[in-house]
Amino acid sequence: MLCGRTNVNKFLVEEQRRNPALIGDVSMLISDVVRSCKAIGQGVSRGSLAGVLGDEGSRNVQGEVQKKLDVLANQAFLHHCEWGGHLRAMASEEMEDIHPIPAEHPRGNYLLVFDPLDGSSNIDVNLSVGSIFSVLRCPDHASAQPPTAADFLQCGSRQVAAGYAIYGPSTMLVLTVGNGTHGFTLNRDIGEFLLTHPDLAISPDTREFAINASNERFWEPPVQRYVAECLQGKSGVRGKDFNMRWVASMVAEVHRILMRGGVFMYPRDSKDLSKPGRLRLLYEANPMAMIVVQAGGQASTGDERILDVQPTSLHQRVPVILGSRNEVERIERYHREHASGEDQPFRSPLFSTRTLFRDD
Ligand code: F6P
Repeated sequence: MLCGRTNVNKFLVEEQRRNPALIGDVSMLISDVVRSCKAIGQGVSRGSLAGVLGDEGSRNVQGEVQKKLDVLANQAFLHHCEWGGHLRAMASEEMEDIHPIPAEHPRGNYLLVFDPLDGSSNIDVNLSVGSIFSVLRCPDHASAQPPTAADFLQCGSRQVAAGYAIYGPSTMLVLTVGNGTHGFTLNRDIGEFLLTHPDLAISPDTREFAINASNERFWEPPVQRYVAECLQGKSGVRGKDFNMRWVASMVAEVHRILMRGGVFMYPRDSKDLSKPGRLRLLYEANPMAMIVVQAGGQASTGDERILDVQPTSLHQRVPVILGSRNEVERIERYHREHASGEDQPFRSPLFSTRTLFRDD
């Protein structure tokens, strides 16, 4: 493939020839998803000129404030993906229940799950946001029945394809159909995503981590230990200095990790015990895990591989730790050592006020 000359459709046709299990529907479905992302990217880039910034005045199923663009992006996915005849149903962060394909359109054998505008709290401050999607097969036993939410409750390892679009300085699409992870850049002159980053590979080691450090007091000890050791830098057990980043947009964090390595963590915390993490399994953690694993990285809850988690509900949340393989495996080891009582006591340097010289 000539880098920069292969558009996403040609790429998908070639992938299909390589892997006949990827029947034509998948590439045509992804083309519909790509059209949704182009439309959303255009709205994002026009911002105030298109009157699309600001709050919608409603809340989604998670109780989060919906931005106007959240709602428009959700409509774009429904509009571009429901008529093609490839899907049985869709589910999204912005809809409480699944969206079965309306009776006027033919129904296919795939399910599409998406977060239409991830990181949307960044939209009004003109920072990178993105759309995340995952494609699943409709379970065989369900193909004669009307689709239900239970059809979507499949482990991430069963995803057929996953990807995201990032609306940043340039608009990019990152995609996997189970044969590596590949990046395409939107050429606005011809309206096509062109292959610019074939076979992305995440370096196994890194000196960069990303976490919302304001939650430090709520993290579990293995994560506190990992971050504390990174912050100790050269003088600590890691023997090297680390850099920290936090964009508050998962798509942007994962994209940075694909480009130059790193670890992203939104771990379990005790802030709200009803939520075992912040990110959603089906349309955030699973697609990102597939993308990262296909690029040679690793994705874990700390206790198990994200792709092995059996979903129990559509909007389920999970702890997410993903990126450079050796770092993710180290954090998993810290979880195991903590569970078995083997980990060493440590002191967090982040917000600690106690010192050797004070007796409080
Ligand atoms: O809803 C998901 C999300 O916006 C992610 O894109 C991002 O990583 C995270 O939430 C930001 O969380 P916080 O508001 O705690 O920084």
